[in-house]
Amino acid sequence: MKVRIKTPDNEPLFYETPWACWFDFKCVWEHIFEPGEFKLVETWTVVEVPVWHVLQIVPRSSTYKKHWLIQVNSVWIIDRDYAWDNDTIKFPYMNMSWQRQIIEDGTRIWQGLLVKIEKADFEVVESMWNKDRGGFWTTWTKENLTTKQEIKTKKITIKDSSWVFLKEIDVRVWENLLRQIQDAWIDIPYACSNGICWACMCTIETGGEALKKDLLMEPGLPLAEEEILTCVWWLNKEVLEHDPNREIILQTFY
Ligand code: FES
Repeated sequence: MKVRIKTPDNEPLFYETPWACWFDFKCVWEHIFEPGEFKLVETWTVVEVPVWHVLQIVPRSSTYKKHWLIQVNSVWIIDRDYAWDNDTIKFPYMNMSWQRQIIEDGTRIWQGLLVKIEKADFEVVESMWNKDRGGFWTTWTKENLTTKQEIKTKKITIKDSSWVFLKEIDVRVWENLLRQIQDAWIDIPYACSNGICWACMCTIETGGEALKKDLLMEPGLPLAEEEILTCVWWLNKEVLEHDPNREIILQTFY
């Protein structure tokens, strides 16, 4: 791959060994860093980065050990646009020692790497729908290698008192079931809206684990395991995030 460069001594940049992937930059003149001093070290070198490549520049591994210099922007990225005659490569270095550091002319203290890149065609989505690894400061553990996906709505099936299919409706996770069943024009009675009167009761045919009771509400009368009071029952977001395909079927009493 041909790469056009412009150097102050008209010498090419070079790879130290046949298998080296980083090529070195030489210091052109002597540079003196006082203790704690920050300086942009000019190389007077321009590199025309090839199409679909990027040039990364970092200190050589021995730079800190020998000269106590750190590159203050960590990794310098140079793209193809930076290739006019005055787009010379400069190294922002800082002397971390209490002594003066003298970098002699010809010292190799930087290295560059040409990396192939892909250009992204960004697509904005509402949710990534990927596996949850637990967020920042976490690692891939068996526990967080789950199929967790953020759930906002879930389709549930409503049947009548004879177990005849009435409707499939979209239910939001942040709202109780009763209001949403009524919004879908399914005739379901209610009275107290507080989990006391039993008027809004439904029976679970399947998917009960994906439903949960409002923790603040205690039913006025005891319920069977498969019975819920829709005014104080919600979708269980946590369960559905791990198993979004879980089927939920409810039977109304009317
Ligand atoms: S409306 Fe009374 S228990 Fe739900």
